[in-house]
Amino acid sequence: MVSDIQLEEQAQTIAEKKLHQVTRLLFAIGVIGQLLFVYYIVAFYGGVVVNGTYEKINEQLPHGIIPGDKMGNFALAVHLSLAAVITFGGPIQFITAIRKRLPVFHRWNGRIYYVTAFLVSGAGLYMNATRGAHGGMIMALGNASNALLIMTFSVMAWHMAMQREFRAHKKWALRAFLMVSGVWFFRMGYGLWILLTGFTGVGANATLSGPFDRFLAFGHWLVPLLLLEFYFYARASSNAKVKRRATILFAGLCLLLAVGIGMVTMVFWMPVL
Ligand code: HEM
Repeated sequence: MVSDIQLEEQAQTIAEKKLHQVTRLLFAIGVIGQLLFVYYIVAFYGGVVVNGTYEKINEQLPHGIIPGDKMGNFALAVHLSLAAVITFGGPIQFITAIRKRLPVFHRWNGRIYYVTAFLVSGAGLYMNATRGAHGGMIMALGNASNALLIMTFSVMAWHMAMQREFRAHKKWALRAFLMVSGVWFFRMGYGLWILLTGFTGVGANATLSGPFDRFLAFGHWLVPLLLLEFYFYARASSNAKVKRRATILFAGLCLLLAVGIGMVTMVFWMPVL
């Protein structure tokens, strides 16, 4: 005879496994999307450098290269040249096989990642403060808070690794990774919004001052962070129902993310490559 407790334990195990599988799928879809972003950065900005077609940068960015603004242009160069490095280096850290078989690589890649996170966000903060953000004060505040969270969570992840608190380290590393991915979520947000609004993009406009733009100014880091905290909660919960609900939510997000990546690639990246 199988007791109620055993049944509950079985339900827990199955729910745990499904949650694990669906979040791995979500992560894999996200990595594909981030690799496409890396491809865009390298192909577009690398192409500009190789061909010397620097005027293309100003067609692509709201500010770009400003004559006479040496520091701002230097910050932009640092920002863009390290953007691909950080976007590529992040996901590798979460691959268990690499972590286990190549611990020295994991440690060095982690150090490079957090130093790069500070450089990219520091350069971003400088441009944000001196040139202003496309979208005005609300967008500038949203970007600045993203930068501060990247730095804070990176410090926490590094600190926890040095303390050999590996469970806490993994949690802070995931938080830092999602914050670094904020710039990518920002684009996903628009890709999905364009699709969900039947290609009208209602609430968003060219000056990034519409209600949806304002929501996304903070939403690009707040929504992923809330979802991650819900994932931590569901994993730790002893209630199989909570895990099942989380599995449904994350399965839906797999679909949304896959569609968002397709949209962003087609609307923002492919036309300029
Ligand atoms: C850490 C992760 C980040 C990455 C990987 C990243 C990457 C990029 C990339 C690829 C672009 C060019 C956009 C395009 O071609 O569509 C860009 C532009 C820009 N980023 Fe970031 N970014 C990050 C974080 C930030 C943060 C936190 C801020 C602000 C505090 C920021 C401020 C800017 C600004 C102001 C521009 C536009 C520059 C201009 O108009 O001249 N970035 N970023």
